[in-house]
Amino acid sequence: MIGRLNHVAIAVKDLEAAAATYRDALGAKVSAPQALPEHGVTVVFVELPNTKIELLQPLGENSAIQAFVDKNPSGGMHHVCYEVDDIYAARDKLKAEGKRVLGDGEPKIGAHGKPVLFLHPKDFAGTLVEIEQA
Ligand code: CO
Repeated sequence: MIGRLNHVAIAVKDLEAAAATYRDALGAKVSAPQALPEHGVTVVFVELPNTKIELLQPLGENSAIQAFVDKNPSGGMHHVCYEVDDIYAARDKLKAEGKRVLGDGEPKIGAHGKPVLFLHPKDFAGTLVEIEQA
C-alpha cells in the first residue's frame, strides 16, 4: 500500500534562516516562500533528487504548528508524507488495522493540491504521518 516518500516536513521558527542553510550550506534547490493561509503555514520547498523537504513556518494566529515550534525553538521534524494510490482505500485499511486517523477522517486538500490525511503519531512509532494520494 505505502508508496514513495513524498516529503519530510521540518517546522521552524525562522524560515529564511532554514532556507539559507539548505541553499547555502547543503547546496539544495530551494523555492521562494509560499504563504498557505488555509494551512496556517508559510512553506519553502527543498528539492532533492529522490524526495522533497518542506520547511514550514507558522502563519497566523491559529497555526497548527505554532505549539510545536514553541516546544522546539531550534526547529524539528514535524511529519513524514507517504504516497498512496487510493486515499480512501488506504484510510479504510488503516482504520481496520486499528490505526487512528486525525480530524473527521475525511481527506483534505493538502499543500500540493492533492487529498491528504494525517495519522496519529502514537500509532506510527511516535511520528506524525501524512498520506497523500499521488
Ligand atoms: Co506535509
